[in-house]
Amino acid sequence: MKKILLIFGTRPEAIKMAPLVKEFQKHPSDFHTKVCVTAQHREMLDQVLDFFEISSDYDLDLMKPGQDLYSLTAAIIESLKPILETFVPDYVFVHGDTTTTMAASIASFYSGAKVCHIEAGLRTHNKLSPFPEEMNRQITGRVCDLHFAPTQASKKNLLAENISKKNILVTGNTVIDALFESVSRVKNLSTKNIEHIKKALSPGQDVVLVTGHRRENHGEGFQRICQALKEIATSKPEVKIIYPVHLNPNVQKPVNKHLKGLKNILLISPLSYPEFIWLMNRSKIIITDSGGVQEEAPSLGKPVLVMRENTERPEAVDAGTVILVGTNKERIVCEALELLNNKERFQSMSELHNPYGDGKACNRIINYLKT
Ligand code: UD1
Ligand code: UDP
Repeated sequence: MKKILLIFGTRPEAIKMAPLVKEFQKHPSDFHTKVCVTAQHREMLDQVLDFFEISSDYDLDLMKPGQDLYSLTAAIIESLKPILETFVPDYVFVHGDTTTTMAASIASFYSGAKVCHIEAGLRTHNKLSPFPEEMNRQITGRVCDLHFAPTQASKKNLLAENISKKNILVTGNTVIDALFESVSRVKNLSTKNIEHIKKALSPGQDVVLVTGHRRENHGEGFQRICQALKEIATSKPEVKIIYPVHLNPNVQKPVNKHLKGLKNILLISPLSYPEFIWLMNRSKIIITDSGGVQEEAPSLGKPVLVMRENTERPEAVDAGTVILVGTNKERIVCEALELLNNKERFQSMSELHNPYGDGKACNRIINYLKT
């Protein structure tokens, strides 16, 4: 029996690890599975754990308001030591590119466990963008023993770093497993948040969905983003812009300062995952700097403007669903108005694509471990 420890801490890691936790739990005679959450995020993590009905075996409860990278990294490594020494996992699974990912992979390497990276091999090769996620991925990639790459392009990135091909498996992204599993549960969803949104909309009203949180956009980037949203709202008064605002104070402050109280902009709290899928489905276009949203949108046929200069997820750009617009105010406004005004442009970016997977990534990972 193999001892498995899955470690994660933020909303996107939880969404993408949840189907894998469930899959491991289906095989109790092969795997003794435990879940450790660092709680780098608190409320936004708990929303996901609630929806997927996952209870953690270890909760480090580390989130502090306005936390910084130094103390969070140190706290994760220190707090994992007793857990790794008590449970002594054979395999530790980490996901993606957060501080939890990087620190947990190092701690697990120290413990002697085999370290497995889900969503391995994404690269921009620019260590400042996304910051610090690009370096988190590269460090995790060096420390890991098994690399579960979502696409052939990510496998190629790993091979270019001399990682042996026998330690890489292309699986698709587990975000599509989570999405496909959840989408049917969302159809007739009715929650307080959804009723609030419905009440704010007239029938058939076009919705522009916005999310944003990247560290490299904090400060001036967010000011330009807010100015752009203001201008889109003024130019298209018939459209509703809905923005579930990330809880990071570096995002809350500028967004509330510049956009609160505007007539056709609705600022709301972060939504639970099923509510957010419902809102993506209800939206005409999405403006975001999120990694996960770039992966989900092609499978929902939603055009996305990505407020970043580069992306480690080129597949959605190639599929025609995503355009990179950076945080240049004019560029964001121009591309958004083009999509809202030009039917052909909108149609050409709304085709369904699944460049990130077929919903069977977790299956492939478990089968690989069983052999
Ligand atoms: C983190 C990840 C980023 C990921 C993002 C997903 C790092 C360095 N950053 O960024 O890669 O894309 O999560 O959303 O790992 N907060 C709350 N409640 C919550 C969550 C956050 O109040 O549930 C506030 C706290 O004040 C916290 C702050 O947000 O200190 C920042 O959280 P942190 O995880 O450090 O950074 P994110 O911007 O969320
Ligand atoms: N998401 C959510 N509620 C929200 C906004 C986003 O559940 O209000 C989900 C979204 O569907 C995606 C993930 O959160 O799966 C993306 O998380 P985020 O943008 O915070 O992080 P990133 O993917 O950029 O690391």
